[in-house]
Amino acid sequence: MKQVLFLICIMFSTVLWAAEKVAPVNYDEAKVPQFVLPDPLVMSDGRKADSAKMWLEQRRPELLKLFEENMYGKPTLGGINMKAELFESAPVFDGKAIRYQLQLVFFKGEKPLQDDPKTDFLIYTPAKKNSNEKSPIFLGLNFMGNHTINTDPEIRIAKIIWDRGNGKQVPGKEEERGKQSRRWPLETIIAHGFAVGTVYYGEIEPDFNGGMKHGVRRLIYQDGRKLQPNEGNAITTWAWGLGKMLDAVTEFQDKLNIDPKKACVIGHSRLGKTALWAGAIDSRFAVVVSNNSGCGGAALSRREFGETVHRINTAFPHWFCDNFKKYNLDVNSLPIDQHEFVALIAPRPVYIAGASEDLWADPKGEFLSGFYADPVYRLLGTDGFGNVTEMPPVNQSVGNRIGYHRREGKHDILEFDWLQFLKFAQKQIE
Ligand code: GCU
Repeated sequence: MKQVLFLICIMFSTVLWAAEKVAPVNYDEAKVPQFVLPDPLVMSDGRKADSAKMWLEQRRPELLKLFEENMYGKPTLGGINMKAELFESAPVFDGKAIRYQLQLVFFKGEKPLQDDPKTDFLIYTPAKKNSNEKSPIFLGLNFMGNHTINTDPEIRIAKIIWDRGNGKQVPGKEEERGKQSRRWPLETIIAHGFAVGTVYYGEIEPDFNGGMKHGVRRLIYQDGRKLQPNEGNAITTWAWGLGKMLDAVTEFQDKLNIDPKKACVIGHSRLGKTALWAGAIDSRFAVVVSNNSGCGGAALSRREFGETVHRINTAFPHWFCDNFKKYNLDVNSLPIDQHEFVALIAPRPVYIAGASEDLWADPKGEFLSGFYADPVYRLLGTDGFGNVTEMPPVNQSVGNRIGYHRREGKHDILEFDWLQFLKFAQKQIE
């Protein structure tokens, strides 16, 4: 009897193990499965949104809820307060720009406590002759600390940098200064008349499974409250952080000469997924830019090309809400796909960028999300993806209210990408 039980246990665990085994990565277009995409305009009860009013009042709220429940999770940080203080500013780049550094402190209740989570918010604005003229701004999180985005010696070095591989913390170091500057072409951004502001994402929440204990979310879950399967995880927390950056810009708009109504949210890769979600949940963002955002970003989940839902949930269980894991082995039962994610931003301008060698992020799937979001943009009276019908050649920027390019090369965000974003934003918001 004992032996039979033992055998049954072995068989059962083998079945479980086999079920959890992640399928090999597919990079072959011919092996992309057949799938039917949900129609963004069709409501769960079968009615079709046939007017802007119906989209905005009925279908969009329904879709947003579906994305919250099944993928990114509901926001939980509504009760957190923020105190913003400007602690440094000076002219830079031969007087062409001004650097500002603010500290943001996050707290519950009346006033911050000593150990409450805090972050440095670094901003560069164009130095304007006419001080009444406010600049538009790009807001984005960075991966390695503010001091890594430029060699500017006055950027305060991040106190703690989190190793996202093992969850260990190390102090930020002088020798890392400017290491990521290829991703932040500040002088080009300034020359185009835009300000730019950034925060180290690890100061909002460190990026590893268990990181929520060390970031802003500790204020919510410190009393032992458990994360619910439909509650926001790291991506939703970072997206919340982007909204807080916009709150600070709004508070300091006169001092900084920035127009918070012209805020463009931007992000690369996992932070590109985050930028799209921030744009979806916070309509104050006038322009949304996602770069190489891939699976869980702009790429269609149902294509299962490169990274898949199963893989992302396995490698990064802390990014999406726990309900998303239900779809690991049956992506077709997801009630949504990523073209509808893009459509949540409509009618506001959105730009999707991919890279030709970044197959892991499925550049074609990223393109198709823009393409299939187009009917929603049209319904809302914009020219959507313009006359785009197929993937453009590399390095060619296309579209209208929805913009797209596929840079030649690897997974990265480079000056070429920024130049397209700047042109797009200039056209869309000026
Ligand atoms: C991994 C991950 C991607 C993510 C990327 C990044 O490759 O699988 O989903 O976009 O990291 O953030 O650099």
